[in-house]
Amino acid sequence: MTAQIISGKEISATIREELKTKVDELKGKGVTPGLAVVLVGEDPASQVYVNMKSKACDNLGIFEETTKLPAETTEDELLELIDKLNKDDRFHGILVQLPLPDHIDENKVLMKIDPDKDVDGFHPVNVGRMLVGTDCYLPCTPHGVQELLIRSGNDPSGKHVVIVGRSNIVGKPVAGILMQKKDGANATVTIAHSRTKDLAEVTKCADIIVAAIGVPEFIKPDMVKDGVVVIDVGVNQVGTTDEGKRILKGDVEFDTVKEKAAAITPVPGGVGPMTVTMLMGNTVQAAERTLK
Ligand SMILES: NC(=O)c1ccc[n+]([C@@H]2O[C@H](COP(=O)([O-])OP(=O)(O)OC[C@H]3O[C@@H](n4cnc5c(N)ncnc54)[C@H](OP(=O)(O)O)[C@@H]3O)[C@@H](O)[C@H]2O)c1
Repeated sequence: MTAQIISGKEISATIREELKTKVDELKGKGVTPGLAVVLVGEDPASQVYVNMKSKACDNLGIFEETTKLPAETTEDELLELIDKLNKDDRFHGILVQLPLPDHIDENKVLMKIDPDKDVDGFHPVNVGRMLVGTDCYLPCTPHGVQELLIRSGNDPSGKHVVIVGRSNIVGKPVAGILMQKKDGANATVTIAHSRTKDLAEVTKCADIIVAAIGVPEFIKPDMVKDGVVVIDVGVNQVGTTDEGKRILKGDVEFDTVKEKAAAITPVPGGVGPMTVTMLMGNTVQAAERTLK
């Protein structure tokens, strides 16, 4: 079987075109979408992510301001900054780049963000709204998974989706989104994790597998059925090239599983590009709300 390669790069580019039009419309009505990004410390990966977000904003015409704070910033100082950003009308969305230094309680910080500006979709109010199925900001990577399925012609409706991984940032929200009684969802969802017995028996039942495990090439061809659709969320660095570039692998053994799959996302170039795009989407959504 020759699998359809689901390109997150292409789908992401299409969504960004749509967003650009929305940003221009908003500007025509006197509203420039604004995103405040907060980075604490010097984690190199976080710096890369923050730069990507800033560039994406620039390209779409979204106003963006990154506040870079030293690693020694206290929890109180960070909470005070968030308080200010909550009240600052230039910003429709606030994003605090995770992880935070150990001395800062991540939960306290996420709770401090005004749920109406929580474009990462991590505030419990938005998590609750997502589960109930009311209007909210969907968390970016899980929403990206859903968009990849829909826009590649693999609507999850009526399908058995097996998600491997139950983290709060990927596995659980993917389940929450895909089980909704809504267009582009309506899936029958199973969540598997490290305590699941006979995991391969579970994954072999899947019409769609979402792998969010964090173990390189964990899903092998003998764990999937013919014709499965595979969304690989995993990003695992397995080495570096001679030029110092990161070598990345997904959670799925791509070369072998693609021989059995009907469709599969590559790593890189699959889920990765969608995350920042969905963040842009939430920021635009936040700005649109101010007109209602
Ligand atoms: N593309 C993106 O934008 C993006 C965004 C976020 C994350 N990611 C990537 O996605 C992957 C998952 O991230 P995460 O934050 O969800 O990771 P995580 O918090 O470490 O969660 C991993 C999950 O996988 C399960 N698991 C681990 N080993 C397993 C095994 N042997 N058998 C079955 N289940 C197993 C764990 O089970 P237990 O709960 O039982 O421990 C846990 O639920 C990582 O590679 C991460 O880099 C990518």
